[in-house]
Amino acid sequence: MRHLIDITDLSVQEIDELIATAEDIMEHPDKYAEACHGKKLATLFFEPSTRTRLSFEAAMLDLGGKTLGFSDAATSSASKGETVGDTVQVISCYADIIAMRHPKEGAPYAAAQVARVPVINAGDGGHNHPTQTLTDLLTIHRERGSLENFTIGFCGDLKFGRTVHSLVSALSRYQGIRFVFISPPELRIPDYVKENTLDPLGLPYEEVESMEESMPQLDILYMTRVQKERFFNEADYLRLRDTYILDPAKLQTAKPEMRILHPLPRVNEITVSVDKDPRACYFKQVANGKFVRMALILKLLEVRV
Ligand code: NCD
Repeated sequence: MRHLIDITDLSVQEIDELIATAEDIMEHPDKYAEACHGKKLATLFFEPSTRTRLSFEAAMLDLGGKTLGFSDAATSSASKGETVGDTVQVISCYADIIAMRHPKEGAPYAAAQVARVPVINAGDGGHNHPTQTLTDLLTIHRERGSLENFTIGFCGDLKFGRTVHSLVSALSRYQGIRFVFISPPELRIPDYVKENTLDPLGLPYEEVESMEESMPQLDILYMTRVQKERFFNEADYLRLRDTYILDPAKLQTAKPEMRILHPLPRVNEITVSVDKDPRACYFKQVANGKFVRMALILKLLEVRV
């Protein structure tokens, strides 16, 4: 039985296969419409979500399966003090696969140790978010035709932004990627990402503060929200939240073929006037997320179409 807790649980070949399956589903949705008939997906969301939970549910419904779950820890037995391990053992009796989001780093890993069905990490604290990474990779692949040889700038909250950590980890295994980390000093990419992922492979990266200075060299600009819920005090959040605001003026020096990604939700970091720029990809990214989650569900349930 396979789980997806960390993006490195999948080999590069498996990621490429998931992307290919997602693209096939986009082209031939009817072929997959009953693939998961009789199967159930449980979404256990101990933390707020719109896209991730609903895209998982839409993914299972579009595969002909059914869904159950909760979207608020307060309405589950967690509020009575039940452990994640017990909750997951219980849900294993009702569902064939579990997608779980939790504010504590490592909670989905702990869940996978006792689950009797595959567990998918749908975001654990400020740590990882592997299915957002699959979404991001599918988007880059569709926009550029390849996952090799480009410069990507990550901008904003690189400390708490779990989507950044997982995407860096995934891209470190593809050829010819240059990383530019754009953040205020307080929100820099964690040392463990550099020490465990980038440095051992000798991958090129720079850490800078200015979005404007980096802009001309970027092929992908990956914007992120400052993660309010992970701050220890509100004053720091208020001071840092508007450090970067992408607007049409700042895009003037960007390459015409650059692509702007954002896992969403957006707060202030991209003005609405950027949405009509052909380089803005974040709403396409949302659409891609459902298809790659369909591909992942098929893989973990070992359904062949
Ligand atoms: C991201 C997350 O939950 O980490 N959202 C998402 O799943 N698309 C990004 C964020 O909340 O800022």
